[in-house]
Amino acid sequence: MSESLKSVNYGLDKIFDGAQDFLPLLGTDYVEFYVGNAKQAAHFYKTAFGFQSFAYKGLETGSKKEVSYVLKQGKIKIVLTTPLNSKSSINEHLRKHGDGVKVIALLVNDAISAYNETIKRGAKSYFPPKLSQDESGKIITSGIYTYGETVHVFVERKNYKGVFFPGFVKWESNYNPPGAGLKFIDHIVGNVGWGQMNTWVNWYEKVMGFVNFLSFDDKQIHTEYSALMSKVMSNGNGRVKFPINEPAKAKKRSQIEEYLDFYEDCGVQHLAVASEDIIKTVKHLKKNGVEFLPPPPQSYYDNIPSRLGEHMKLMKEDILELQKYSVLVDADEEGYLLQIFTKPIEDRPTLFFEIIQRMGAKGFGAGNFKALFQSIEREQENRGTL
Ligand code: FE2
Repeated sequence: MSESLKSVNYGLDKIFDGAQDFLPLLGTDYVEFYVGNAKQAAHFYKTAFGFQSFAYKGLETGSKKEVSYVLKQGKIKIVLTTPLNSKSSINEHLRKHGDGVKVIALLVNDAISAYNETIKRGAKSYFPPKLSQDESGKIITSGIYTYGETVHVFVERKNYKGVFFPGFVKWESNYNPPGAGLKFIDHIVGNVGWGQMNTWVNWYEKVMGFVNFLSFDDKQIHTEYSALMSKVMSNGNGRVKFPINEPAKAKKRSQIEEYLDFYEDCGVQHLAVASEDIIKTVKHLKKNGVEFLPPPPQSYYDNIPSRLGEHMKLMKEDILELQKYSVLVDADEEGYLLQIFTKPIEDRPTLFFEIIQRMGAKGFGAGNFKALFQSIEREQENRGTL
């Protein structure tokens, strides 16, 4: 078992202390990316990641300022949005950050209450409650800012039967590559600047009623060259988890510093998406050209039996098979997990994806952090950003 998870208190006692959850979240509704060319990005997410065409708005549907493609796989919905002219404020976001996540939308039963409760607790407004409707019903949304220029949009869609949102049509396409077995969003990680970790931990606690589910300091997350700190925030029912990373001082630049330099702000670092068969998923993604971080050394796989201890008995996967596909494994008191990380999915070394398969473990692969960061450092070295 990984050293760093042996004495973990998951904080679940705090989550279920009987207090009323003032912001009940039903899960993640969608994640919206601002991108330079949504049409081409949509093709990439279909071809490489196996997302399916789901909904669309653009000139043909009367949307004159921006175009959005919605793609779906399992319960995951991503929205890719591009401005259609120079006047849109989205251009400024793209100019500064490049392609990246703008909106983490959260499904709620009451978007007005979600807005009022978070604003009352100090959230900065992105937009007040807004009603959108068409012949399929109505959706109420509201929005607040989180770290950097990233926002949370609360979506109340219980009275809507349409495909996605008013203004969108079903996106029918002749090009429908098979899915990759991605099921749902497991967690979404944010990178924040020097000294900002606790500000955002406190913000999620106070404004959104989250609890600090797990913490790792730079003594736990470091290599010879770089270090970072990480705290995992979870909502009351555990459906929404947002780890937050902050760089820490070390000999060289950490991947978090590299992110902050290239995104030019705090922002979403990675989306972890769950698979029920990670080997099958990774095989599929690799065939489609998705690039993953280079594999850890042979010693990493040699040490799996001693690291996992009793969990080895439960492990269904063959270590040689994991090694063949560079899949990482870690365990905590409650089980084990398998994970793998893509390289950044745009030219700036910013956003990437994680594929995760949980076999009981509730952690985030702390036992893999060192091997993972060493892989990233080799990539940083190639980019001249270590
Ligand atoms: Fe992760």
